[in-house]
Amino acid sequence: MTNSHKKAKIFSIVNQKGGVGKTTTTVNLTTAFAAAKKKVLLIDLDPQGNSSTGFGISPSQRQKTIYEVLIGECSLKSAIIPTRIPNLNIITSTVDLSACEIELASVDSREFILKKALKEVIHDYDFILIDCPPSLGMLTINALTASDSILIPMQCEFFSLEGLSHLLTSLDLVKENLNHHLKISGIILTMHDRRNKLTEQVEMDVRSFLKDKVYKNTIPRNVKLSEAPSHGLPAIIYDPKCPGSVAYIKLAKEILDREDSK
Ligand SMILES: Nc1ncnc2c1ncn2[C@@H]1O[C@H](COP(=O)(O)OP(=O)(O)OP(=O)(O)O)[C@@H](O)[C@H]1O
Ligand SMILES: [Mg+2]
Repeated sequence: MTNSHKKAKIFSIVNQKGGVGKTTTTVNLTTAFAAAKKKVLLIDLDPQGNSSTGFGISPSQRQKTIYEVLIGECSLKSAIIPTRIPNLNIITSTVDLSACEIELASVDSREFILKKALKEVIHDYDFILIDCPPSLGMLTINALTASDSILIPMQCEFFSLEGLSHLLTSLDLVKENLNHHLKISGIILTMHDRRNKLTEQVEMDVRSFLKDKVYKNTIPRNVKLSEAPSHGLPAIIYDPKCPGSVAYIKLAKEILDREDSK
């Protein structure tokens, strides 16, 4: 995989709230981008390793992971493995990664470790997507420091707006102190239920607050999206016609169109 002309665009998929659809979004968007002939690298930066599992990569197949990269035991390039999807590579993670927060605590410039490591492959890909853990600790800070842009999956629930404003404040701090050119590409409304009044109200509030930062395409609640990982496949491959897959394919197009128009 070489593409010596362009620099990869790096996205972090972030929300400190757990279970909002970060991994489901990362797995399906990377697959949709790869299907659109983009060269894509997924970095599983969550000790839960859900993105790695989502591609059917068992823990025993995860020899070199993002943990070894971050503690300087191997190069980032050497930790890359292919997925079963053409054009899509991954750097996996295991539960070992949870030790990183503590192990890096005394390292100089620890916020920049991932950014520095990514330089090695920045010209090999069109897109690099980083699946973040549900916290704003050192792993997520490393992702944000390394990124051009962020995608925020959000569930339309009562406490979501509070969580979102906390996240936006943290992003401002990262922008000021670590990464001046970090942008919010957009908010993705996940597990969306059109018939639910609360969903509708929260969606209206988010759209009036963040305007065109909220993607037009929303992701419905769809059981196929939650079944797919147990088959080791992204939903858009497991069942390309289910409503969740159709929504992710449309969303991927909306994101690519938006990037192209910049
Ligand atoms: N649109 C959807 N419809 C139905 N189920 C979904 C949908 N999106 C995600 N899920 C399911 O909800 C759960 C949480 O989703 P996911 O793992 O993607 O969230 P996450 O934000 O990555 O979680 P964590 O914060 O733990 O990393 C999973 O079981 C997933 O399969
Ligand atoms: Mg996750």
